[in-house]
This record gives sequence, structure tokens and C-alpha cells, in this order.
Amino acid sequence: MHIILELLLLVGIIIYSYLESLVKFFIPRRRKSVAGQTVLITGAGHGIGRLTAYEFAKRKSRLVLWDINKRGVEETAAECRKLGAIVHVFVVDCSNRMEIYNSVDQVKKEVGDIEIVVNNAGAIYPADLLSTKDEEITKTFEVNILGHFWCNIRVVLNLRVELNCRSKLENSGDRRGEALNQVQLDNEQVNGQQVQINKRQMDKLMAIGQIYNGDKLS
Ligand SMILES: NC(=O)c1ccc[n+]([C@@H]2O[C@H](COP(=O)([O-])OP(=O)(O)OC[C@H]3O[C@@H](n4cnc5c(N)ncnc54)[C@H](O)[C@@H]3O)[C@@H](O)[C@H]2O)c1
Repeated sequence: MHIILELLLLVGIIIYSYLESLVKFFIPRRRKSVAGQTVLITGAGHGIGRLTAYEFAKRKSRLVLWDINKRGVEETAAECRKLGAIVHVFVVDCSNRMEIYNSVDQVKKEVGDIEIVVNNAGAIYPADLLSTKDEEITKTFEVNILGHFWCNIRVVLNLRVELNCRSKLENSGDRRGEALNQVQLDNEQVNGQQVQINKRQMDKLMAIGQIYNGDKLS
């Protein structure tokens, strides 16, 4: 009896899915625009990362391309520029936590906030288990797993710092000078990491503070 009910449920789900696809075929959902958005793609020097970069370039995103292979990533960048995109290239080893943190901070300073991250970099050792060397297994985890965490953590952390700053300023009323000092102090302690807002962000936050207080912007 149980199995008949499960089969009926399955048939129902299949019919519903087909109907849904049919409706969406004629009334497609509006796609999100990524034009002008800053997209970080790791492992952009070859394969899927490179092809992903081309797709974002065609959609006029601002690209930040990372790879350990300088030549590969520069080739990708050249092709993306031909497609009309603004491209920033960084040589980064995505198995190295501090290098990732420093590179995310450098991108923030030189390019601005990262809005989309494509964690694509991967170390691939196609061999059976017993032929794979210990250090290759370690590297696979460092790049394909840990590297993604380090990258995401730092990007989100930087965004959180900015959001914290914004909210502090917006709530500071006519004491925004104090709020800005506090923001700088706080930023040294976020998540036990040394994260600091840079001059450009500070100017941006000052501007927000001024708007909030109804002052005229210079
Ligand atoms: N191709 C497939 O069939 C397939 C299937 C499943 C998953 N994947 C995953 O998709 C991703 C891309 O695969 P691909 O086939 O395009 O691989 P690929 O080898 O063609 O490209 C990987 C890119 O990552 C870069 N890279 C490697 N180690 C790096 C490091 N330490 N720091 C920075 N960059 C580094 C390489 O230089 C290269 O440009 C990988 O994470 C892979 O595990 C691929």
C-alpha cells in the first residue's frame, strides 16, 4: 500500500513539474542583471573558470580574475577585455589562507566591494586512491575545500564591516565624528582578524554620515 501511495505521489510531482516547465517556457522568469557588478572568479586561468569569465564579460560585469597561473589568467583577461569587460588580474594561490585574505583586501582597496564570488579554483589529480600522493590529497583539500572557506569568509567579513559602519553612522546623529573613530577601533577586532576600512571607504562612509545629517556634500 505504501509503495502505491509513493508511486502516486511521484506521478503527481512529475506532472506538476512538466506543467511548471511548460508555463515557464512561455512566460520565462526575468533574469537578474549582473551588468556592472564586481565578480570574483577563482581559477580563471583555464577550463570552467575561463569560460565562466567569458560569460560574465559578455554580460558587462566588472571582473576580478584570480589564478596561480599568471599566463593563463592573463590570456583569459585579454579575451574578456575584447568582449568589452573591465578586468583586474591577480595571481593568487588559493591554497594559502593569508594570501587569500590579503588578496581579498587588496581587491577591496583597488577595485571595490566584491558582489559575486565564483569559487572555482581546483587542484585536480586524476589517479586512483592508492596512486595519489599524500601531498596531492592535502593540496586538493587546501584548494578545493579550505580555499573556498577562506575566500568567502574574508569577502563576507569585509561586507559586514562596511554594513556595521553604515549602521553606526546612520544612528550616530550629530556625533558622527565619534562614530567614525569607534568604527576604526571596532574594525581592528572583527572576528579576531585585522580588518580595516580604507581611505576610500572612509570617505564613502563620511559621505553617508553627511547625507544622513543633512549636510551638503563637498
Ligand atoms: N571538469 C570537470 O569535469 C569537473 C567536474 C566536477 C568538478 N569540477 C571542478 O570545477 C573546477 C574547475 O574545473 P576545470 O575542469 O575547469 O579545471 P582546470 O584544471 O581546467 O582549471 C582549474 C584552474 O584552477 C587553477 N588553480 C589550481 N590550483 C590553484 C591554486 N592553488 N590557486 C589558484 N588557482 C588554482 C588552475 O591554474 C586552473 O586555471 C574545479 O574546482 C574542479 O574540481 C570540474
